[in-house]
Amino acid sequence: MQTDQVRNIILVGFMASGKSSVGRALSRRCGWPRVDIDEEIVARAGKPIADIFQDSGEAAFRELERTVVSEICAESGRIIAAGGGSFIDEASRRTMLESGTVFYLSTRPETIRRRVTRGHPNAPVRPLLADGDPLEHIKELLAQRTPAYSQAHHTLATDDLTPDRVAEAILKICGPGL
Ligand code: S3P
Repeated sequence: MQTDQVRNIILVGFMASGKSSVGRALSRRCGWPRVDIDEEIVARAGKPIADIFQDSGEAAFRELERTVVSEICAESGRIIAAGGGSFIDEASRRTMLESGTVFYLSTRPETIRRRVTRGHPNAPVRPLLADGDPLEHIKELLAQRTPAYSQAHHTLATDDLTPDRVAEAILKICGPGL
């Protein structure tokens, strides 16, 4: 494994774009450990993300997120799954772009809505999608965020792909060194 070629593989994209499951598939295939920024935040705060938003507000969540991003990105040879808003924060975005190869998993709003409303027993509550018409809200937030997501090194449209196929495409782009 040539960590001097690709230091970390960093997955960014909207909520429910598959970052965690693609991260797991990548880790299985290339053997690099997977780190999930949201899981790390929950472990440090000692409570779920919805509770952090409710008790301390989004700004406090973003501050904790920035700290965790900077610590995790200082490591090498990691598959890093980032929370959907972390790449929107300028400081976190710069940190990620400098510390690895960043892949934006792009997803259509309808796909996101299907995934968040179908739900999953272990899916986290997503405070930013808790109110109003989910599709309209997803479209609006996605439009605001797309200019930032587009600064990733690579963009992959993932709507019709399984996590394993996305992982394969990423490893192909990273080259034989991984
Ligand atoms: C957020 C996405 C969530 C989590 C938090 C805020 C966002 O992560 O970090 O609820 O701003 O898009 P996922 O993308 O893993 O759902």
